[in-house]
Amino acid sequence: MQIIDPFNYINDNDGSRHMHAEGVSLNFLATKAGTPLYVYSYQALTERYNTLKKVLPDSLICYSVKANGNISIVNSLAQLGAGADVVSGGELKRAITAGVETKKIVFSGVGKTELEMAAALSANILQINIESEPELELLNKISLEKGVIAPVAVRVNPDVDANTHDKISTGRQEDKFGIPYKDAIYLYSKIKELKGLESVGLATHIGSQLISLEPFRKAFKKLTQLALTLKTSGHNIRSLDFGGGLGINYSGELEPNINDYAKIIKAAGDEAGCQVILEPGRFIAGPSGILLTRVIYVKRTEARTFAIVDCAMNDFMRPTLYNAWHKVELVSQQKNKVDTETVDIVGPICESGDFIAKDRDLPPLSSGTLLSIKDAGAYGASMSSYYNSRLPAGEVIVSGNEWDIIKKRQSLEDLIGLENFAHWQKNSVKEQ
Ligand code: LLP
Repeated sequence: MQIIDPFNYINDNDGSRHMHAEGVSLNFLATKAGTPLYVYSYQALTERYNTLKKVLPDSLICYSVKANGNISIVNSLAQLGAGADVVSGGELKRAITAGVETKKIVFSGVGKTELEMAAALSANILQINIESEPELELLNKISLEKGVIAPVAVRVNPDVDANTHDKISTGRQEDKFGIPYKDAIYLYSKIKELKGLESVGLATHIGSQLISLEPFRKAFKKLTQLALTLKTSGHNIRSLDFGGGLGINYSGELEPNINDYAKIIKAAGDEAGCQVILEPGRFIAGPSGILLTRVIYVKRTEARTFAIVDCAMNDFMRPTLYNAWHKVELVSQQKNKVDTETVDIVGPICESGDFIAKDRDLPPLSSGTLLSIKDAGAYGASMSSYYNSRLPAGEVIVSGNEWDIIKKRQSLEDLIGLENFAHWQKNSVKEQ
């Protein structure tokens, strides 16, 4: 199934071509909103969500807020009927602020605090996925104190290797996530005894950026069998939460076929007689956004050519953290074909790990050249930081010929404003 790429070149009269986000020129956006700038496409978000919904009409799709939690993005999806998968009190707040129905929110994560659990119970969300016995006990205590019954699903670790990057594999025995498969039955019998809890389903999430469907098949089969065993023993298992993980094509990977993925999921849900919940993040948000950056300087040394750009690892961690490969393209391309040059695209941060792309063959770059870093909509802005006291990139969304700012640029005053001198230092700084 071919899903649109909203970032395309439009030809000018002089034969040059310029990349647009839907109908809006990226050159224009860079001038109006500055760089570095995340640019998202509403049409792509919509289409990617609808593609999943179309092949799995009976599943509840809980968009994984960690991929990109901007309230405008989450709202776009909530308007289409999406729920949300959240992993912190902050994400819960985002989802609710963005208009996600609370009865479509699932709370996952290995380290929920008392405050976070209390917030989830007050919001009356769909389900809380439990990842350890002490967590189960604490949730029971809080529920009893509040006089409510918490709807829970146990997140099972099926010990299946997702064959993805080590840092984003979550379903192996040695990973910190979930309850070992063999302990699940014991945990459900404990849920039955605890008066503040009610079991509603079973959950898993084996990893992210999966290219092969086989690990999904293996894990979901295990989960289905467990669901049937639990049901036979009288436990209430209404839903199967299969997590997220669907991979995308960053560098020519063969994306999993969405119809085959749906078939596996539907078969598993039907066999267990359960409603399916999914938690996709990257699949929806990844290709829906790019990071727009401008070259500050080009530095040519004997060993290499560096294009030093105005975004850095604080804006976009994926390359340095996972050695992730993202396509980089010139926003404006001239009519005549030019010889390419091999460059490393690096940021201004004082670490050699601060790179965006290495060894790329691109037309010669110069100060001011605008570049588009593709597939940056997921785990881009949401993983950004203030390292080197850099202000994070701005964020805009485009829909057709319209655009709007969805995250203002902060000021240095905002950045420093939360800090203060210790009381004994107060008189040591001269008024400026
Ligand atoms: N559900 C749970 C419980 C998760 O832990 C995750 C991702 C998802 C759903 C969404 O997975 P997705 O559909 O996006 O693959 N920062 C990394 C990815 C970390 C994923 C963490 N968990 C990256 O940039 O590749």
